[in-house]
Amino acid sequence: MEYLNKLLLLACATFSVMSLVKSQNQQGFISLDCGLPSNESPYIEPLTNLTYISDVNFIRGGKTGNIENNSETDFISKPYKVLRYFPEGTRNCYNLSVKQGTKYLIRTFFLYGNYDGLNTSPRFDLFLGPNIWTSIDVLIPGLGTSTPMISAIELRPLRYDTYTARTGSLKKIVHFDFTNQRKEIRYPEDVYDRIWMPYSQPEWTQINTTRNVSGFSDGYNPPQDVIKTAAIPTNVSEPLEFIWNSESSDDQTYAYLYFAEIQKLKTNETREFKIVANGRLDYTNYIPTKFEAETLINPAPLKCEGGLCRVQLSKTPRSTLPPLMNAIEIFSVIQFPQSETYTDDVIAIKNIQSTYQLSRISGQWQGDPCVPKQFSWIGVSCNVIDISTPPRIIALDLSNNNLTGEVPEFLAKIKSLLVIRLRGNNLRGSVPQALQDREKNDGLKLL
Ligand SMILES: *[C@@H]1O[C@H](CO)[C@@H](O)[C@H](O)[C@H]1NC(C)=O
Ligand SMILES: *[C@@H]1O[C@H](CO)[C@@H](O)[C@H](O)[C@H]1NC(C)=O
Ligand SMILES: *[C@@H]1O[C@H](CO)[C@@H](O)[C@H](O)[C@H]1NC(C)=O
Ligand SMILES: *[C@@H]1O[C@H](CO)[C@@H](O)[C@H](O)[C@H]1NC(C)=O
Ligand SMILES: *[C@@H]1O[C@H](CO)[C@@H](O)[C@H](O)[C@H]1NC(C)=O
Ligand SMILES: *[C@@H]1O[C@H](CO)[C@@H](O)[C@H](O)[C@H]1NC(C)=O
Ligand SMILES: *[C@@H]1O[C@H](CO)[C@@H](O)[C@H](O)[C@H]1NC(C)=O
Ligand SMILES: *[C@@H]1O[C@H](CO)[C@@H](O)[C@H](O)[C@H]1NC(C)=O
Repeated sequence: MEYLNKLLLLACATFSVMSLVKSQNQQGFISLDCGLPSNESPYIEPLTNLTYISDVNFIRGGKTGNIENNSETDFISKPYKVLRYFPEGTRNCYNLSVKQGTKYLIRTFFLYGNYDGLNTSPRFDLFLGPNIWTSIDVLIPGLGTSTPMISAIELRPLRYDTYTARTGSLKKIVHFDFTNQRKEIRYPEDVYDRIWMPYSQPEWTQINTTRNVSGFSDGYNPPQDVIKTAAIPTNVSEPLEFIWNSESSDDQTYAYLYFAEIQKLKTNETREFKIVANGRLDYTNYIPTKFEAETLINPAPLKCEGGLCRVQLSKTPRSTLPPLMNAIEIFSVIQFPQSETYTDDVIAIKNIQSTYQLSRISGQWQGDPCVPKQFSWIGVSCNVIDISTPPRIIALDLSNNNLTGEVPEFLAKIKSLLVIRLRGNNLRGSVPQALQDREKNDGLKLL
């Protein structure tokens, strides 16, 4: 029941081919500045040269909010200064067209910025299609309900053979660039627009090169600025260790370690180390390739006992140089197990929605018609067997909707439909043949 008390924001991905940004080098990028008035769309964000567009054509409802102007928000870049909030509806859905069979990096931004003057952090759940993605809790958890809001949505296509979990999808924990520079790195330096945050530890020494690093055939393509810097332990006899917390000890974790030898080694010098992840020896004697990037991934997901994860690089006895690491990405596995409603049923019901002005209920008709169950559409009953079976629509209640015209024949196309209630409308004409056939053959009831 707690779900029903909360307002929800859903990102609903539907699948059709559409290129939103024609620019050659932002191919397939979708960059929505939520709440941006359409007369200010599109614009080029100067720090990244990314083209942002307004979200108006991807959402029904919601209102524009502006974050507070003060010395702290002065430095916030344009896409995050304006937002869309949703004072109405139990769920609000973005409809984004993605390319089927493409792997995407999906990023959402929520910058509250006291846009409503209430100084109360928003709390709501975020879904991807019918599956929960995460709970948004921008600051300190508040009590009771709160209005969902969103600042930006960014989709970036990735190479299909990269970032592959054994099962499920990957949720980013960190992208760290081991450097003592302060600046974050993203597009255009990063062709996939991953956002790399600078990271160092007191016991590390940073090294860097001005030479270019090659070798991006594996598709991970770290930006030059990321791969040209690395960390080594200051005490060269010590291992290089990176420790992080996982949200729970059940989390399955993948670490992507980026390496390139960026020092010119003398003939009598060797850099060779073993890589141990949570006590499991993954590599016994790894040698970073000279001025060539390589990405090492744990072959099986890591389980972090007690929620503590650890990657340790220790030099082998024959190594004259300490271990080095240039960058790291960490992900946990996230499952999206709930199937979407059977496609033909969805097409048919959307057809009804667009043909008739279902004023009483259509505002609520957003996202998947059947799942999650607590948000199934008003007037729609579904047969939901289990999460891996696409739900089917079995009854439709269109009574008292002021429908006019003919009885809609295409209702016959929802093959699983057992009951259609049409009372209280001004429909004329006889019942179409296709529906009569369904009544006779399948026991469909027209009430
Ligand atoms: C953005 O594009 C302009 C014009 O092509 C270029 O001069 C500028 O350096 C670019 N900025 C970034 C951050 O790439
Ligand atoms: C902040 O300043 C911008 C630009 O001057 C303005 O458009 C916006 O409405 C202001 N926001 C608020 C909350 O006053
Ligand atoms: C989503 O957008 C696509 C393309 O713009 C459109 O064909 C489809 O009907 C939309 N779906 C919904 C549920 O609005
Ligand atoms: C490279 O290392 C030198 C010496 O530590 C440092 O002064 C410089 O800022 C570093 N440059 C980059 C790009 O990290
Ligand atoms: C590195 O590569 C860039 C882009 O290909 C090139 O412009 C630059 O001259 C190269 N730098 C060096 C030191 O080779
Ligand atoms: C470096 O590490 C070694 C091995 O842990 C230790 O014996 C030595 O005291 C350390 N040196 C310094 C300067 O901390
Ligand atoms: C490698 O050779 C150089 C001289 O070319 C010498 O100064 C250095 O100590 C040697 N390093 C090792 C680890 O043997
Ligand atoms: C149906 O139409 C009548 C008369 O036009 C109107 O009073 C009523 O509010 C409408 N009902 C709905 C559910 O739209």
